Amino acid sequence: MPEKLPAEFLFDPGFGRDPYVTYAKLRDQGPVHPIDLPPGTDAFLVIGYEYGRPALNDPRLSKDMRHAPSVFRDLVTKDNPVLAYNMLTSDPPDHTRLRRLVAKAFTPRRTESLRPRVQEITDELVDAMAARGHGDLLDDFAFPLPITVICELLGVPAEDRDAFRAWSAAVVSPALDEEGMRRRAEVNAALRGYFTRVIAERRAVPQDDMISALVAASADEELLSEQELLATLTLLLVAGHETTVNLIGNGMLALLTNPGQLRLLKDRPELLPSAIEEFLRYDGPVQRATLRFATEDLQIAGVPIPRNSVVHVALGAMDRDPEEFDTPDTLDITRADNHHVAFGHGIHFCLGAPLARLEGQIAFETLLRRLPDIDLACTPGELSWRQNGSFIRGLQALPVRF
Ligand code: HEM
Repeated sequence: MPEKLPAEFLFDPGFGRDPYVTYAKLRDQGPVHPIDLPPGTDAFLVIGYEYGRPALNDPRLSKDMRHAPSVFRDLVTKDNPVLAYNMLTSDPPDHTRLRRLVAKAFTPRRTESLRPRVQEITDELVDAMAARGHGDLLDDFAFPLPITVICELLGVPAEDRDAFRAWSAAVVSPALDEEGMRRRAEVNAALRGYFTRVIAERRAVPQDDMISALVAASADEELLSEQELLATLTLLLVAGHETTVNLIGNGMLALLTNPGQLRLLKDRPELLPSAIEEFLRYDGPVQRATLRFATEDLQIAGVPIPRNSVVHVALGAMDRDPEEFDTPDTLDITRADNHHVAFGHGIHFCLGAPLARLEGQIAFETLLRRLPDIDLACTPGELSWRQNGSFIRGLQALPVRF
């Protein structure tokens, strides 16, 4: 078995800057790596595609925190409603019930009907940027686009969106010390308070939005409890924009640092759908925030995984696995059979994937058409990445000129 990885390694800024260099080194030692955590907490990092993909859909690997080691459970779920009672942290039959309720809003047809509105929001954001000649693509564009879309879908008033952005960022940041824990507890209390108020309003006066639809479902406790309703709304808010922002940011960085591919996409816009899939594979937003907990003793690639272990399935590493993808470190927007796992796999496969793809396609099509001279306004080495232990991979800022 490979040597244990020190726990700090996962939160190391160097790893955050370029996890792919680290994954490549680890790959030589095997597809599964134990992580050195305090006694009583067994943890593993799965980096091989062949083993990671089935692990994502293995019923012996639970998403339910009740199967996590107690230290871990207390650290992660304390005051954190997004990590309890939602579909992403449930197993069947709860998972099936919770997912079905929300799935109605995310059918490909319903998502497609959002196209004109997503285009309108995109045009407004590009209009505002175009006049200036330069800007931060994240702040000016990649953040506001998905959050505006998800807030409209849910039915959150426009004036509350800035608060949402700050809350959502705090929910996905690891609380590593007391100050971090305090801040996260505060944010979760704020989110709970906010949604509790909105739920009461929608209960009194229903609107044509997703919050009202879920509130109606929660009238029947069998379908959705109040706690599950709060957790579901928080999950949608966070999942709805902490990820798509980085599809746009990481994808645009990949293009700007690969001028041949940028030119190709400008010349052949019909490659856009396959380019989006390649951005997701090449530098996906979700690196290893896909935890599972072993409900029994098992083995992955011959490595013994004791019951209650935490298993990190590293999607970012799997999507660069040379056993699965030819020239995995090369950005190739024409790549055929791009069977990446950036949206996960199995029963927890991303429910918002059609929406993320729609937003991505409209974003890149519009940016490249309206700002054809877009370029980096700094060297790639000057860019900094958000430090959240590479759970979510995204830039702090992406300075561009056009
Ligand atoms: C689940 C990635 C956008 C809603 C997931 C999972 C991944 C993922 C990897 C599975 C996690 C696991 O198995 O542990 C992404 C990426 C996105 C994106 C890369 C953008 C590029 C969205 C959007 C929404 C959304 C826009 C909509 C609000 C969800 C939900 C789940 C989920 C509700 C839980 C599904 C379940 O547990 O059954 N996503 N996501 N995601 N995503 Fe996304």
